[in-house]
Amino acid sequence: MFRGSANYIASHRNTLAVFHIPGDLMDENPKGFRDLMDDISLSWLLGMKIVIVAGCRYQIDKRCKEDSQLRSEHMGMVVTDKESLRVVKEEAGYVRFEVERQLARALKGGSSWGTSRSSSNGTDEVDVGEGNVVSGNFYSAQPFGVLDGVDYEYSGFVRRMETKKIHQVHQNRDIVLLTSLGFSPTGEVFNVNSEYLASYAAGELGASKVIYFLGRDAALRHKIRRSTERLFLTKMGWGMNALEAGVKRVHLISPNDGGLLQELYTRDGSGTMISGDLYDGIQRATVGDASAIYKVVTPLVEEGILVGRTKAELERDIDQYHVYTRDGLLIASGQLKMFENGYAEIGCLVVNPIYRAKGRGDAMLGYLERVCVVEGASNLFVLSTQTMEWFIERGFDEVGVDLLPPSRQATYNYDRASKIYMKKINSLRDLDANELFWDR
Ligand SMILES: CC(C)(COP(=O)(O)OP(=O)(O)OC[C@H]1O[C@@H](n2cnc3c(N)ncnc32)[C@H](O)[C@@H]1OP(=O)(O)O)[C@@H](O)C(=O)NCCC(=O)NCCS
Repeated sequence: MFRGSANYIASHRNTLAVFHIPGDLMDENPKGFRDLMDDISLSWLLGMKIVIVAGCRYQIDKRCKEDSQLRSEHMGMVVTDKESLRVVKEEAGYVRFEVERQLARALKGGSSWGTSRSSSNGTDEVDVGEGNVVSGNFYSAQPFGVLDGVDYEYSGFVRRMETKKIHQVHQNRDIVLLTSLGFSPTGEVFNVNSEYLASYAAGELGASKVIYFLGRDAALRHKIRRSTERLFLTKMGWGMNALEAGVKRVHLISPNDGGLLQELYTRDGSGTMISGDLYDGIQRATVGDASAIYKVVTPLVEEGILVGRTKAELERDIDQYHVYTRDGLLIASGQLKMFENGYAEIGCLVVNPIYRAKGRGDAMLGYLERVCVVEGASNLFVLSTQTMEWFIERGFDEVGVDLLPPSRQATYNYDRASKIYMKKINSLRDLDANELFWDR
């Protein structure tokens, strides 16, 4: 198991991840929370740069209910009046303390609670052995103001994220902790939605992932009945925002023991993962693309790298082709030909010479691999005379003609003597794992 995780440990090292911890996890599932803090510490130990956003909506709602205080909500946004702001301050302080306390314990193996000190730049640090948990003014906030006649009072959004400060903290190998309390330059305090804060911070910091935890197990069904399911959707929605801001992946993880480690460090994962659009610009070719494909392929045919195709042949088989275009220019092309018994052949994989060595080949191959799995094939092969290494580096192995599907064996050109490379793809999750290593 440990050996199988090596690749993941290597690929997550030095990447930045934003973890959102919901308040309900802390109070409703103390053991789950404690275990999670252990696992976050382990990810830190394995080299991840970590920002934790601690939410406290659960605590605030509970307090307001106990005090029979009503919190009004419009369009899904809460109004924070002066009285509830006081509660927000107290509860944000509470969740912050809980996270610091558990991390201090986790990183010291439970032998000590760590010591707290105030640093010169206005941040508080809790010593956790080799690393610190640093919380403080890492973002400034501004009020929503009055929208559609509703005054949101002390509810606000992020005005500026202090990315430089946060990167500095990471350079010292420390963990950053943010809460829902954001300060304005004039010294006012605003209540900022923590799921939004996590997604915004991830985008601003160029994080590779944002990870949302669920307070309880939840799954999407055809009917959204329970509030946990609604929360699931909310987190997903904020996750999409992070993807739009350039974050590569969003994970939604249930609070099961070891769920985080399983999601990050094993092939099967444990939660729901949403990937940013790695294949932006790649699509099935249309007849209108035939000329452009012909143009990029022809020089390679002349060099003997690819087998020749006439324009008429390209047009006839156009359904097998996929193109990567930007502003009408063909950047790459690839052909996927389906055979019997779950086999598919890649052909005509070409990247326009101006765009080579920037990961476009990987993107095109990854896309074709996905199409292959979706169309029901699990054995992908390619015939090549000069690009062997490229395919071997991407998990293909050399095989003999006898391993080709019978109808392809019948058309194999022994004079050309191309080498054959084959790869078995078990599931889309295998491909998810491969994509982690592109990183260009
Ligand atoms: C092979 C090809 C599709 C790769 O596209 P690309 O966008 O440059 O690929 P990527 O950016 O994903 O990968 C680039 C890496 O592959 C390496 N590479 C490129 N061509 C290679 C080859 N023929 N053999 C081995 N490695 C090769 C590059 O040196 C680079 O290595 P680096 O990451 O260590 O710098 C492109 O070079 C091409 O169009 N070649 C001509 C057509 C061809 O050979 N097609 C395959 C036969 S079907």
